[in-house]
Amino acid sequence: GALKRWTGETIPVRSAICARKPDGTLEQIPLGSYPTAGIPEAMEALAAAVEAYDDGRGEWPTMAVSERIACMQEFTQLMMESRAAIVELIMWEIGKSRVDSEKEFDRTIDYIKATIEALKELDNANSRFLVVEGTIGQIRRTPLGVVLCMGPYNYPVNETFATLIPAMIMGNSVVFKPPTYGVLLFNPLLQAFKKAFPPGVINTVYGKGEEIVPALLESGKINVLTLIGSSKVADHLKKMHPKVNRLRAILGLDAKNAAIVLPDADMNLAVKECVTGALSFNGQRCTALKMLIVHRDIVDTFTERLVAEVEKLKIGMPWEKGVVITPLPDISKVRHMTRLVEDAKSKGARVLNKDGGTVCGTLFAPAVVYPVKENMLLYREEQFGPIVPVISFDDLETALEYVITSEHGQQVSIFSENPETIGHLVDPLVNQVCRVNVNCQCQRGPDVFPFTGRKDSAEGTLSVTDALRSFSIRSMVAAKQTDDSKR
Ligand code: G3H
Repeated sequence: GALKRWTGETIPVRSAICARKPDGTLEQIPLGSYPTAGIPEAMEALAAAVEAYDDGRGEWPTMAVSERIACMQEFTQLMMESRAAIVELIMWEIGKSRVDSEKEFDRTIDYIKATIEALKELDNANSRFLVVEGTIGQIRRTPLGVVLCMGPYNYPVNETFATLIPAMIMGNSVVFKPPTYGVLLFNPLLQAFKKAFPPGVINTVYGKGEEIVPALLESGKINVLTLIGSSKVADHLKKMHPKVNRLRAILGLDAKNAAIVLPDADMNLAVKECVTGALSFNGQRCTALKMLIVHRDIVDTFTERLVAEVEKLKIGMPWEKGVVITPLPDISKVRHMTRLVEDAKSKGARVLNKDGGTVCGTLFAPAVVYPVKENMLLYREEQFGPIVPVISFDDLETALEYVITSEHGQQVSIFSENPETIGHLVDPLVNQVCRVNVNCQCQRGPDVFPFTGRKDSAEGTLSVTDALRSFSIRSMVAAKQTDDSKR
């Protein structure tokens, strides 16, 4: 439940959307404010979670799976009643289009339902008895303890719940800190949490992460850290736990997913997939295509068609029909995009599309940048925004080398109509990233597929059944087979 006393400061919330002031300048619209937790409230939330778990003896971790499922079903029902309010807040807080905000909400409901079904299956499988060499064993999926959960701003509901829901339904208790942008939208859910779950199972703390998260981790009482966010932050946080080796981390982190476009690719398909892959929700998806690697023989034609498609994209407000490029959640994000483009331009790259990179308040017109070179920030840095960097290559080894030498290892796309070339690329690539997409863009879904990454991109696996496994451990009850049990 929400905490009542607040010792932290009050933080104003500004919309991604700007309004014009009387002096003609644009300003992010104020949406409200929220009182943040100070360290005392954060520790109070932690104490409630620790008490609810009670070293595995609490009501929640010992509850029958069917009862935990019933609580989750009640929560889902209550959450659905807040659909309109949450969708509206996603649009206003982070600037996501109405269509995508609705998709995010509905996908989350589907995700919860799929998780419930997966848990029933897992539980059925576990309730079977194994008899091996005179010993009877029953394997159980058991919780891990107290989970500190932090979601991202780009999918504030969906990605947060992709960790929160499996963590809770497996019997863990949770301390949950909402993302920096996309905070108010959790308000309608606080009552639902309270109604559906026993006290202490889910404890929400609004606060400045840099203040409260260290205190939570340093307490040593957090058993699982789950964060969808930056690799640097994750590394920094893990070290704060006094027993870092005992801390399970389930992390979805930075990515620089590339598309390799070969001369024998279906050009129309490749362009279409690369545009949506790179620019849907302004490129603010960890799975977005963040580098296009195009064979030199086709790079001119490819970029020409790419530019034509990018120039057709509708730029506007989240509620406008057909809009693709919408406001970024904060002006600081726009400044960062400008910095990346200016850096590339100063080192010899060009923005190929008309008006690419122009700014109006929090709107940043998508920019196709070519040729990107190793000395430019865009070569390796995850832009997480509406910039499409393009490089060209002469031989496959060079294209492969880009992926192999990357610090990231989430996904890659390859575009070719030649099965032999695809075959030649898939084997080395699937050992470098966790999903190779053939003739399609990178993406997380369908949500039952495992979702993870290598190197700096992830730790642990998410998705429906994988997440249930990530937030639990296989324990067992064993007994010697007796003459009675044999009968
Ligand atoms: O931001 C990272 C998300 O996991 C991306 O999910 O591929 O469904 O947009 P998505």
